[in-house]
Amino acid sequence: MSVTDMKVTIGSLELKNPVLTASGTFGYGREFSPLVDLNLLGGIVVKGLSLKPMSGNPPPRIVETPCGMLNAIGLANVGLEIFLKEKVPWLQGLDTAVVVNIYGHSIDEYSAVAEGLRGVEGISAIEVNISCPNVECGGMAFGTDPDVSARVTEAVLKKSDKPVIVKLSPNVTDIRAVARAVEKAGANAISLINTLTGMAIDIDRRVPKLANISGGLSGPAIRPVAVYMVYQVVRTVHIPVIGGGGIMDYRDALEFLIAGAHAVQVGTANFVNPGVSMDIIEGIRKFCTDRGIDRIQDIIGSLRTRNSNA
Ligand SMILES: Cc1cc2nc3c(=O)[nH]c(=O)nc-3n(C[C@H](O)[C@H](O)[C@H](O)COP(=O)(O)O)c2cc1C
Repeated sequence: MSVTDMKVTIGSLELKNPVLTASGTFGYGREFSPLVDLNLLGGIVVKGLSLKPMSGNPPPRIVETPCGMLNAIGLANVGLEIFLKEKVPWLQGLDTAVVVNIYGHSIDEYSAVAEGLRGVEGISAIEVNISCPNVECGGMAFGTDPDVSARVTEAVLKKSDKPVIVKLSPNVTDIRAVARAVEKAGANAISLINTLTGMAIDIDRRVPKLANISGGLSGPAIRPVAVYMVYQVVRTVHIPVIGGGGIMDYRDALEFLIAGAHAVQVGTANFVNPGVSMDIIEGIRKFCTDRGIDRIQDIIGSLRTRNSNA
């Protein structure tokens, strides 16, 4: 019996397998290196990067919820300059795809971060987080407006020499409209979903559990929402889609692949088990090998209709 070929391609980006770690849940990779052989991963997506260092929101900024967690980290990160000086040299030694997740509070800021990463070796792609508040439009997230999402995408593409993946927010009425807009703007791929906005209250103290009041919900609670949004988006656009949201094991990851995602991102599960991505890669491989599926590509988008008898 032959072992399944796990290689996937996201446009021009080649991954050794379809499993990436999600931004903000895996630091800059190095923090996990004593625990995980990073070179076995399909890729890592590093913490959201802004032009200037950001300390993020005041604590408490994480709270556990049923089947998930709320976070209001506030995109704390080292900023472009320190990232290039202190993080990139180590990342360049890795034999896996390194995706840099970027964000800005204005379109100019997104452009500036993309420009700062131009020509930098060892970075495989840029993932654009359009879920953060847009200071130019009264704090509404860029990603909730298809036109603004398209403008951010165009601005990043203009400055970038790397494939550009746009990461969509689920906090919208129709995610297909945003997907269509960023595809039209030239995005090379789409990833989804980012966290769903939520809130939790401490009833004894009668205060919000998060200092920021609201936060982003992640973990298994959001998975059915994420799977459906991926299902919708792959039927709407022609560019590759990377799916994620609540993946805890290989079976969850397979739901996204079967729905049509070319790869998956594992986030919150890393906090429960830092080595979970390894288990997911091995689980997917075994699932396919046991069924005589030679290439993981054959699983992607293989969803059947309820009345098909294949
Ligand atoms: C603590 C935390 C920090 C995150 N930081 C970022 C970030 O910097 N940029 C980003 O695009 N997404 C960020 N995310 C969203 C995740 O990358 C992922 O899209 C989301 O959590 C859904 O996947 P999951 O349910 O597997 O965690 C963060 C999520 C968590 C839990």
